[in-house]
Amino acid sequence: PNYWAVVPAAGVGKRMGTNIPKQYLPLAGKTVIEHTLDSLLQHPRIQAIVVAVSSEDRWWPECLPQDKERIIRAPGGAERCHSVSNGLECLLSLAAPEDWVLVHDAARPCLRREDIDRLMETLHGHPIGGLLALPISDTVKRANAEGVVLETVNREGLWRAMTPQMFRLEKLYRALREAIAAGVQVTDEASAMEWAGFSPHLVEGYPDNIKITHPQDLMQAEDFLKRQGREG
Ligand code: CTP
Ligand code: MG
Repeated sequence: PNYWAVVPAAGVGKRMGTNIPKQYLPLAGKTVIEHTLDSLLQHPRIQAIVVAVSSEDRWWPECLPQDKERIIRAPGGAERCHSVSNGLECLLSLAAPEDWVLVHDAARPCLRREDIDRLMETLHGHPIGGLLALPISDTVKRANAEGVVLETVNREGLWRAMTPQMFRLEKLYRALREAIAAGVQVTDEASAMEWAGFSPHLVEGYPDNIKITHPQDLMQAEDFLKRQGREG
């Protein structure tokens, strides 16, 4: 099977609080999204990348990376899951049903080549697919709305989900469409697959692969990119 990527990039970055959506902010000599697309473009096995961009987006054309032939633009949606669904729809005519699709947040610019390799190697021959994740190392509390601790949650078996999330194209598209139609909250691809009755496989990733959400995340991302030798 071939490998493809879908990058949801149609968010407004409310928590970042800047005028420009966070994926277009400068970071280590480029924009955030350029670093993200570079990570995927530099992988030789990825055929093409579908990027879901909002129709109101005024920033996109200036930050197109060099390799234009491998980048396809799709319309963004109201929520992340709609953007991803639009991106997958674009692939249906290009890819085979059993092909792999890696869905990766535009806001995760520090993805390493080793992460993609490990996903592909671990999930080789897997019927469904899986996702990068990190085991939780902090003690986890459950609290009420006032911040009063109700309990300490047993952290055994708890992981933080990251992206890329890599699934078989047709299974993922169906699961996502059906979950959306049923009004289920799907915050990532894996949760749509779980809802459809599948069991995604977790693949431990590097801690570099943070999602830029708040302003202070930019500094940490710059640090990771520098250490990876990826200043633009
Ligand atoms: N995303 C998208 N379409 C949406 C919402 C989000 O493609 N309607 C994308 C974002 O651009 C981002 C990824 O999904 O790359 C992860 O979402 P998140 O970190 O929540 O980004 P935003 O929604 O932009 O940020 P916020 O929630 O703070 O507004
Ligand atoms: Mg969001």
